[in-house]
Amino acid sequence: MTSNLQMEQKVEVKALNIGKRLHQASRALFAIAIAGQMLFVYYIVAFYGGIAVSGQYEKVNDQLGHGVMEGDPIGNAMLAIHIFLAAVITFGGPLQFSTALRNRFPKFHRWNGRIYFVTAVVICLAGLYMNTTRGAHGGFIMSVGNFINASLIMGFSVMAWRTAMQRKFMAHKKWALRAFLMVSGVWFFRIGYGLWLLLTGFSGVGVSHDLTGPFDRFLSFGHSLVPLLILELYFFAKSHQSLQIKKWTAAFLALLCLLLVGGIAVVSMIFWIPVLH
Ligand code: HEM
Repeated sequence: MTSNLQMEQKVEVKALNIGKRLHQASRALFAIAIAGQMLFVYYIVAFYGGIAVSGQYEKVNDQLGHGVMEGDPIGNAMLAIHIFLAAVITFGGPLQFSTALRNRFPKFHRWNGRIYFVTAVVICLAGLYMNTTRGAHGGFIMSVGNFINASLIMGFSVMAWRTAMQRKFMAHKKWALRAFLMVSGVWFFRIGYGLWLLLTGFSGVGVSHDLTGPFDRFLSFGHSLVPLLILELYFFAKSHQSLQIKKWTAAFLALLCLLLVGGIAVVSMIFWIPVLH
């Protein structure tokens, strides 16, 4: 009898520990992603903010393939709105997931959520306008990838809003996380290149200057779909009874933490820090 009870207690403790490990791994991954996104915000504000202050708009084209184009005032205005709001959403998004902020300042959470929603839609519409009128680097396939990203951002944001209005808070959190990852697609796109460079010994295999190489093609869709798949795997493992699934998912997320740190470091060193000097 006693040994049966001890066995049960042992299994319970093990289950608790594995559940905790999964939770901690997901939190670590989220924290690393937010730190990396704050570096992106810093780059956007320092680089594009610096240009806005100095008035040297031609410098935008050091970073972007199309950028500021003569004879396209609407496209240029869309780009300016897009980039300004990119800083707002990338900074404001993670604040939505702070339990302390949500509990202490629920009004802030609601208003920041509304701003997030409207900002996401405007960024997507401006992005789609540029994508359609100017074309995407990487051609049609990259355009389709961007279109999917925009659709998922808007679709998931609508679901996050709807479930909040319906006071279905568990579902709301899930849709908000999905929307957040899709909004982060532009960031994952850059981190994807950083990680690929790291993993391939900076050889540039699969990548071409016009973004039509096999890896470019993969990333056209991967920047949205890979993070989404990983999130769904996490939801699945969290709600599943199997300790093995939880354990292996926790280990996988821990590995992703290392990969993410590597990707962020490479992107910062190659793409972001050099343009700030
Ligand atoms: C909400 C998510 C998004 C954020 C935060 C965001 C952010 C940005 C940022 C920061 C840039 C400047 C890039 C750099 O300096 O490296 C940029 C450029 C651009 N983005 Fe987005 N973006 C988002 C979604 C989209 C979507 C959905 C599309 C297309 C449907 C799009 C299309 C573009 C285009 C066309 C450019 C200019 C590229 C060029 O001129 O070469 N973006 N975006």
